Amino acid sequence: MTVPPLQEDERSAWSSFIASLCGVRLDASKGYLIESRLGALLRETQSGGWRELLQKIKADPTRQLQAKVISAITTNETSFFRDQAPFQLLRHKLLPELIDRRNRERIKPVPIRILSAACSTGQEVYTTAIVLKEVIGDLSGYDIRILGLDVSQEAIAAASYAHYTQLELTRGISPLQLSRYFEPAGSQWKVRDELRAMATFRQANLLEPIAIPGRFDIIFCRNVAIYFDEPNKIRLFKALGRLLAPEGALLIGSTESISGLCPEWEPQRYLRTLYYTKKR
Ligand SMILES: C[S@@+](CC[C@H](N)C(=O)[O-])C[C@H]1O[C@@H](n2cnc3c(N)ncnc32)[C@H](O)[C@@H]1O
Repeated sequence: MTVPPLQEDERSAWSSFIASLCGVRLDASKGYLIESRLGALLRETQSGGWRELLQKIKADPTRQLQAKVISAITTNETSFFRDQAPFQLLRHKLLPELIDRRNRERIKPVPIRILSAACSTGQEVYTTAIVLKEVIGDLSGYDIRILGLDVSQEAIAAASYAHYTQLELTRGISPLQLSRYFEPAGSQWKVRDELRAMATFRQANLLEPIAIPGRFDIIFCRNVAIYFDEPNKIRLFKALGRLLAPEGALLIGSTESISGLCPEWEPQRYLRTLYYTKKR
């Protein structure tokens, strides 16, 4: 079955539907993305056309078709130690300062809470776990929890499975880190239990209310807001502000900025990296 071309009125209906599912904004120039990424679903569901497929998805009580649309449309591009600089900031400034603060508070075991909003297939979460292990060494006096959230069920399943190919690991992981933090699993490598134990993953749409008890010391929200329109960006960063502990830090993507969008966030600079704290 050949995939029929998407007409302009269909593109518009699909764009609105996709935006309502996950906030991802696909303007008129992105019709080809809908055709190329959802063509397989059109064939799989034996739909006669784009309108029929949309109706089937909206009528599906299991929401499995919706989940497939989200997984197909979202861009899950990520890697270990992506962009390096945020992890230098974490290693040399944010974590040492956080640990000093906790030591002054004398809370035992030392709680550390980190959120990876839009964690994709888990590389950002496990990179953070590696940095924590390398900074702290013996983790026994610590209660470390890193939560990964993503709207894509497929991405969350892959993140929880914690298996990566050699190629995925070559992008960012040194041979020493490979032997320390991963173990062979068939043709892949599996994250070792000590790191895995720090991480939990949950499917969640960042544009819907996020019910999480407690606050985070550090929030990563990188390379997801770029897909949202301005009102949704503002909504997202306001929501993250409510999840951040008073002295916490927000890290966004290297090409992103929230200056001018959200006055409640104050940009901070460490070497050549920008991060944000909440204004008091
Ligand atoms: C390009 S990846 C970024 C991954 C990682 N943060 C990084 O920078 O390497 C973008 C991720 O955002 C997720 N995403 C898109 N819209 C979302 C939403 N509304 N709520 C949660 N996650 C979303 C996608 O599923 C995808 O995994």
